[in-house]
Amino acid sequence: MRIPDYPSQDSESWAQVDAWFSEKLAPEDADLKYALANNAEQGLPTHDVSALQGKMLAIFIQMSRAARVLEIGTLGGYSTLWMAKALPPHGSITTIEFNEHHAQVAIQNIKNAGLDKRVTLYRGAALDVLPTLAAPFDLIFIDADKGNNPHYLEWAIRLSKPGTVIIGDNTVRGGNVIDSSSKDPNVIGLRKFVDMISEDERLEATAVQTVGEKGWDGFVMAIVKAG
Ligand code: DHB
Ligand code: MG
Repeated sequence: MRIPDYPSQDSESWAQVDAWFSEKLAPEDADLKYALANNAEQGLPTHDVSALQGKMLAIFIQMSRAARVLEIGTLGGYSTLWMAKALPPHGSITTIEFNEHHAQVAIQNIKNAGLDKRVTLYRGAALDVLPTLAAPFDLIFIDADKGNNPHYLEWAIRLSKPGTVIIGDNTVRGGNVIDSSSKDPNVIGLRKFVDMISEDERLEATAVQTVGEKGWDGFVMAIVKAG
């Protein structure tokens, strides 16, 4: 069992249910298995999305018929692979990773999967890379340093069009997101991210709390409105 990021006394049951559904509905292919094993071997933190969450992203891509995807925060590319595999033949993913070692491992995992033509990985600070990217993206997954989420949201909107889906990971954080006195920069960043979404008339959004092998966390999902 992996160590949950936000554990509780129910963590083990949540992980068992995740394992049952994953085996039925989101089995990992050899490329995804390789990526997780390679990440572990090379000492990357196990903050990847779960298999079920990777499959959820893959299904969102298909539901929204996304062809141009942007990911902020690659880590070892596990979520990148789930999303890349769900793209239409002409689809592509741009993914940004700050940590040089994580980026190198991600490139190995992407090459191993034969997806290097579909995935462009930029190494560096997302706030340096984002201004160089061409709009629009159809789906944007924000999963990097959460303290910067307010800035990432501004860029996501700039790089969007009506109908673009914007998804933020780790927005519940074991319930810490509602702590208005938190000194945790991740919580502060996420609270501002949610406030900005709430006040932005261009966006329609919801939040989904999740339990599973990662513990108690969740996603915020927004869509850019027409007009
Ligand atoms: C952390 C980061 C993540 O993106 C995640 O999904 C879980 C945990 C972290 O930095 O603790
Ligand atoms: Mg995450």
